[in-house]
Amino acid sequence: MTRATLFRLVVAMLVLTAVISVVMLQFDWNGVAGSTEADDIDLLTDVMIVLSSFVYSIVLVMLGYSIWRYRAKPGDESDGEPIHGNTRLEIAWTVIPTVIVLFGAGYSWFILDEIEARDADRLQVDVTAQQFAWRFEYPEEGVTSTELHVPIDRQVEFKLDALDVIHSFWVPEWRVKKDAVPGQPTRVVATPDRLGNYEVVCTELCGIGHSTMRAPVVVESQEDFDQWVSDQGGEARGGAAARGGGRGAGTVAAEGQQIFDAQGCSGCHTLAAAGATQTIGPDLDEVLPDRSPQEIEQSIVDPDAELSPGFNQGIMPDNFGDALSPDELDTLVRYLSQNAGQGGGGQ
Ligand code: CUA
Repeated sequence: MTRATLFRLVVAMLVLTAVISVVMLQFDWNGVAGSTEADDIDLLTDVMIVLSSFVYSIVLVMLGYSIWRYRAKPGDESDGEPIHGNTRLEIAWTVIPTVIVLFGAGYSWFILDEIEARDADRLQVDVTAQQFAWRFEYPEEGVTSTELHVPIDRQVEFKLDALDVIHSFWVPEWRVKKDAVPGQPTRVVATPDRLGNYEVVCTELCGIGHSTMRAPVVVESQEDFDQWVSDQGGEARGGAAARGGGRGAGTVAAEGQQIFDAQGCSGCHTLAAAGATQTIGPDLDEVLPDRSPQEIEQSIVDPDAELSPGFNQGIMPDNFGDALSPDELDTLVRYLSQNAGQGGGGQ
């Protein structure tokens, strides 16, 4: 290969790299970006697209050149000259990929270091995942919720835990993603910088209700967030006071509803009174009116003891007896026996 040919091939590779990169960068691969981490990660994606285009161009140009240059000519059926190594070529195909891979690794490291750095004034949220629901606790604010509320432009550190199997915490607009592993807390940070409503999506196949395992996310101003916290706090204090002083029907409805939501029952069941519409498990409006409170309790703590027709063993988690305090279990049973079959009562 002459120097002039090599020069032309290199030019062809660079031109092709530019063309492929421009086309590939037209696509909005990751969608709306809603956090400072997302901007870093999207830039990383773009750089990797250009690098990949370069590697692809090298392969494509050399392939095309070889097909054209070493094609069989009429009447020539020989195999061509045998080759015994080419030191310069070997150095080139070792050094170039090494430089590309080292650059990719170094740059990824730099981005990872940046998006994992912790701010001193970050908000702490403890996330609990279980089949098939999310629960969010704000230890400093003393709030527990099934909705994730966060103020804009403040870093949030999520401590992730799972009660049964491995789940994975992901808000697509924030890009960052981390598994929630039973008994082994993991942490991930995000700094939301775009107001709006999003969703936590579970991205680890965790059972039959995996696709329904989502939770609302609200990114709001600091004032709205403070307002929400005090609203939640007010509710929580009212609930505790009511517990101390005996429970009326209204308290059972409110507390039972909260337990129903927090335990993820609505991720699998239909219950009109709770606005739940899932069909992975039996329709509670249909099956519960015929059952005694004892039978309802058994269905919660030992779901496989007696199965509704058409539903299999092992679908419903069997750890609610551990997850619920005796008090909560009692409230939930009373809530279910009072509200199943009500057809939207309490809404
Ligand atoms: Cu939890 Cu998928």
